[in-house]
Amino acid sequence: MTFDMNLLDKIESREAIVAVIGLGYVGLPLAVAFAEAGFRVIGIDIDQDRVDALNRGESYVSDVPDEQLAPLLRERAGEWERGRQGEGFTPSREASRGALSATTDDDTLRTADVAIICVPTPLGKTKDPDMSYIIDATDAIAQHLHEDMLIVLESTTYPGTTEELILPRLESAGMPRGCGVEAGEGFFLAFSPERIDPGRKDYTIHNTPKVIGGVTPRCTRMAQALYECAIEQVVPVSTPRTAEMVKLLENTFRAVNIALVNEVAIMCDRLDIDVWDVIEAAKTKPFGFMSFYPGPGLGGHCIPIDPEYLAWKLKTLNYNARFIQLAGEINFGMPEYVLGKIADALNDAGKPLNGSRVLLLGVAYKADVGDLRESPALDLIHLLEEKRTDVSYHDPYVPAFNVDGLAMRGVSLDGETLQQADCVVITAAHSDYDWQWVVDNSRLVVDTRNATKDVVAGGTCIVKL
Ligand SMILES: NC(=O)c1ccc[n+]([C@@H]2O[C@H](COP(=O)([O-])OP(=O)(O)OC[C@H]3O[C@@H](n4cnc5c(N)ncnc54)[C@H](O)[C@@H]3O)[C@@H](O)[C@H]2O)c1
Repeated sequence: MTFDMNLLDKIESREAIVAVIGLGYVGLPLAVAFAEAGFRVIGIDIDQDRVDALNRGESYVSDVPDEQLAPLLRERAGEWERGRQGEGFTPSREASRGALSATTDDDTLRTADVAIICVPTPLGKTKDPDMSYIIDATDAIAQHLHEDMLIVLESTTYPGTTEELILPRLESAGMPRGCGVEAGEGFFLAFSPERIDPGRKDYTIHNTPKVIGGVTPRCTRMAQALYECAIEQVVPVSTPRTAEMVKLLENTFRAVNIALVNEVAIMCDRLDIDVWDVIEAAKTKPFGFMSFYPGPGLGGHCIPIDPEYLAWKLKTLNYNARFIQLAGEINFGMPEYVLGKIADALNDAGKPLNGSRVLLLGVAYKADVGDLRESPALDLIHLLEEKRTDVSYHDPYVPAFNVDGLAMRGVSLDGETLQQADCVVITAAHSDYDWQWVVDNSRLVVDTRNATKDVVAGGTCIVKL
């Protein structure tokens, strides 16, 4: 049996042990998907609180309910532990299939046949890629790299990362990649971008096609075999850098189109046209148009950040990514634009920003999630505070937060809270809100999401983006 057949056999029989490094929005649903597909999954995270919560069966990712974790953790992981104690650290593979457990201990990688990296890829202070998390995860794998191991990077990153950063670090561990012809040597390495949209119900990890590019065709085939166990459709591409670029094209496409529609909103405002009506009508065209919506700015870990990874890489090649730059200028200027809308609306009511009570509804970056990363609501709060506005917020998903020196606790939402606000600003249109009730109890509403499109305004002034 050749070495790759060996891993292939383990994958096909679900005997392969899968380690997922980084148990966040991406890593946890993936770990659950592989455990549900019948693999023994070890989740590794540096955050002890997350690890403890998972081992208690408590999920911190809204797409993974506790009920989904329970059957994977309690019964099966117990079998795994018993197997482990009885056999040193060699798990009873048969007993532990379909089990998930979490740990902070990198040494567990030594038992893993597959290691999938799902760690953060933020920007540094100078907007350069911060690769430190990927490097740490790769170095942990390199320490325990063994023959026949498959490594997949899922973190979003610039084209070239897998081959230029990860491959040499793994090769320096003393093992050639899985392109050798001899049996019994080498490892497999691939990039596969995560494309999930947190909170989305129609397209999940299972039915969103998975793009995979391995450093060799064999690496691609091995990763494909693994992912086909849990995901309906796998799309192999020729190289890791192709797969890396696929993800950046997708998210740059979104960032640029959101910037376009944000600028159209600003233009419509000058022209006294309702931009939301324009979009609704434009999207009736059955071809050649795709609807995007304006808002208070970009948020989340992906759309505001990923294009910067591409722009940074191009800068190293003396190329200025102009669309990305312009889109960034427009999108990151939106909180300032919304501030102007609030100031004008208050002014019309005879009030200055200074001292006015402004209540934000929804501080998460989008509807129906509790993710605050890069949320434009936070920028708006900073801007309002600079103007000495009395700012408060309510968000059913974010009871309190402490981000970048801004610490706030949400207020409870009742008719009185709304009536006391000089201006209510809708920044995330969570479906829990009853918009008619919000409008009925408010004096002035600035709606950045068109959440109030179906409500009857009554005596309330509603200002839209
Ligand atoms: N959130 C999304 O919607 C989304 C979608 C597609 C792609 N991505 C990409 O996936 C990657 C992960 O994003 P996320 O949203 O899951 O991030 P996250 O912050 O939710 O989770 C990352 C986890 O990695 C852990 N971690 C950091 N360094 C580690 C290390 N050395 N070893 C083990 N664990 C470590 C953190 O403690 C954290 O729990 C990023 O590159 C992101 O751009 C995210």
